[in-house]
Amino acid sequence: MKDPNLTHTIPSELQSMNWLFRLICTFAMKSPYFHLDGYMQRWWLVKERWIKLGKWEYQLPAIRLHRIIRSDSDRHLHDHPRKSISFILYGGYFEVFPTFPNQKPEIDEYLRVSYLRKPFNCVYRNTNTRHCIKLSNSVTYSLFITWGKRREWGFYTPQGWINHKDYNYIFGEDSNENS
Ligand SMILES: [Fe+2]
Repeated sequence: MKDPNLTHTIPSELQSMNWLFRLICTFAMKSPYFHLDGYMQRWWLVKERWIKLGKWEYQLPAIRLHRIIRSDSDRHLHDHPRKSISFILYGGYFEVFPTFPNQKPEIDEYLRVSYLRKPFNCVYRNTNTRHCIKLSNSVTYSLFITWGKRREWGFYTPQGWINHKDYNYIFGEDSNENS
């Protein structure tokens, strides 16, 4: 949900960044994407552009700045609509995955592994990579680079993969916004 009150706010933590990251953030903050109130603020560094190949439309690489305010819900792991790379600028988080790549989602709750992501870390995720993030101790800034053909995204539950549009009806309001 877009929150116009957040659009022109310059957060104080920018003063703690190195000059290059602060410059990137300040530049990106001139081009707001829609913010997710209480969860994440987002701005464009490089906006989306599209090419059409046959019947498919592909998104050329786009870059958003994310200011992550709270952790994902960890009830069920989720995937994303496109391939992506995250580059951490400030703060950090633990990224949670299934312990084994091919394990069934019904045991995700019991078999998880997490990795600390901190500034200068770079993380690639395929579209079917399921994960969630838990902030380590502060608001986190990252560059989020996406590309490729868009797909539906959703949550991996004991009942199987569930489209994010249906998730809230089944499990209550818990959905992050990954668009
Ligand atoms: Fe995610």
